[in-house]
Amino acid sequence: DSQRTLVLVKPDGVARGLVGEVLRRVEAKGYTLVALELRRATPELLAEHYAEHAGKPFLQPLVDFMLSGPVVAAVVEGQRVVEGFRSLAGATDPTVAAPGTIRGDLARDWGRKVIENIVHGSDSPESAEREIGLWFPGL
Ligand code: CMP
Repeated sequence: DSQRTLVLVKPDGVARGLVGEVLRRVEAKGYTLVALELRRATPELLAEHYAEHAGKPFLQPLVDFMLSGPVVAAVVEGQRVVEGFRSLAGATDPTVAAPGTIRGDLARDWGRKVIENIVHGSDSPESAEREIGLWFPGL
């Protein structure tokens, strides 16, 4: 069955001009964009989006980073797209993310408190539907 996932190009990706490159990879893989928007996150939205990270030491730096500039939010569709986009994105830590992946090819450690890794992708079909409801109410 077809599936949806939430993809975010984080502020580092937007600031570095990598929106087109990320979307190119998603489309080249064969997935379909069903919603796409450039916007600024809010503290309220991020508190819900990152609810599972409540209490973690990197939460505040992460929220500050996500508020530091615009993000691109997209809903992407296709069979097994949750797993498929995570595979395109690569490991969370860009230093060790495999070459060929978005993070492995385009991101690095800049010595900051937060892991700046260009993209977010939902980690399960259940998280995807929850996150899509937050970023695109009604979709
Ligand atoms: P993502 O998986 O999209 O969602 C949580 C984000 O928090 C993650 O990407 C990184 O950007 C960041 N992150 C996760 N773990 C750490 C960590 N240990 N230190 C700093 N930032 C982190």
